[in-house]
Amino acid sequence: MTVHEFGNLDKARLEEREDPRPGEGEVLVEVRAAPVNYVDLVTFRGEYQFKPVLPYVPGKGPSGVVREVGPGVAGLAPGDRVLAMAEYGGYAELTAVDHRQVYRLPDALAFVDAAAMSLGFDTAWMALRDRARIRPGETVLVLGATGAVGLAAVQLARAMGAGLVLAGVSRPERFAPAAAAGADAMIDLSRPDLRESVRTQVLAATDGVGVDIVIDPLGGDPFDGAVRSLAWRGRLVVIGFAAGRIPVLKANYPLLKNIEVSGLQISDYRKRMPELVAECYREVFTFHEQGLVAAPLSTTVPLADWKVAFRAVQAGGATSRQVLLPT
Ligand SMILES: NC(=O)c1ccc[n+]([C@@H]2O[C@H](COP(=O)([O-])OP(=O)(O)OC[C@H]3O[C@@H](n4cnc5c(N)ncnc54)[C@H](OP(=O)(O)O)[C@@H]3O)[C@@H](O)[C@H]2O)c1
Repeated sequence: MTVHEFGNLDKARLEEREDPRPGEGEVLVEVRAAPVNYVDLVTFRGEYQFKPVLPYVPGKGPSGVVREVGPGVAGLAPGDRVLAMAEYGGYAELTAVDHRQVYRLPDALAFVDAAAMSLGFDTAWMALRDRARIRPGETVLVLGATGAVGLAAVQLARAMGAGLVLAGVSRPERFAPAAAAGADAMIDLSRPDLRESVRTQVLAATDGVGVDIVIDPLGGDPFDGAVRSLAWRGRLVVIGFAAGRIPVLKANYPLLKNIEVSGLQISDYRKRMPELVAECYREVFTFHEQGLVAAPLSTTVPLADWKVAFRAVQAGGATSRQVLLPT
């Protein structure tokens, strides 16, 4: 699938191409499954902070089988089942990926499940482990808890030994998946005046103390309320702005409350700290083997019908991850 121009979904088409060859340090992967993420839509429109060079083949986080390894690659061999955290290139039968971003899959993890877990789980893991430095027993509020990042964050917080886990959901009737993922209680984001009402709900759920950690893929009004819900020395991690507004924070607020607000951009971690991302996937896969985390529900769509999957993500409110199958 190739995008020739940024814009709407009509700007991409399927094409026949020469098979890619793995260059120095690269691994050639036969793609078996590749997820459609919200960020793929944003990139497609040319609105993402990093714009790919046109024409480009979209598709982050494909899973598949190693067909060939390039010069200088150790530790991976043809036939290995892998997750390849490429920035682009996953919506294809074959893709060449930097070996430092290729992780061997446990036998029990299906290709579709690995692809469905990819971006949500590495983002949520990095937010909890590296940015928020989670400690056992700490309380966590996950905003957007029905989304890919949010559901992963709820499960990982629980697996990492969090105390109370609160799930911020915009539609209370959709709390069930977050509860099944391990959330103890809901913070209702459909209420008016979220700046006040998020804080009131969080304080009520934490005996007036507030939460140690907030994972925030939403921004907007939920951020305004969540930052005011932090306990002393609490940490909020900014992940995205799915609520549609980039919030503004006065610097005196973190000072007065002894809190931290940090940001996460997972792509940079893959480039600058590949060892930490490898450690992330080792732990995520171990949690999966131990039954502590599960892959999200997914709907599989043949690559030829990619528009169906993209439209489902565009429409929002989906209850399963869209995963494209190239063959
Ligand atoms: N910084 C990074 O490295 C990084 C990595 C991955 C993702 N992200 C960003 O994180 C955000 C979430 O990604 P995702 O993959 O989890 O997306 P997703 O699966 O589409 O989930 C989006 C979540 O946002 C909620 N939501 C959307 N609009 C809302 C609103 N107006 N008010 C309250 N909740 C709202 C949705 O809830 P409902 O469906 O119930 O409305 C859902 O829980 C995106 O902005 C994405 O670009 C950033």
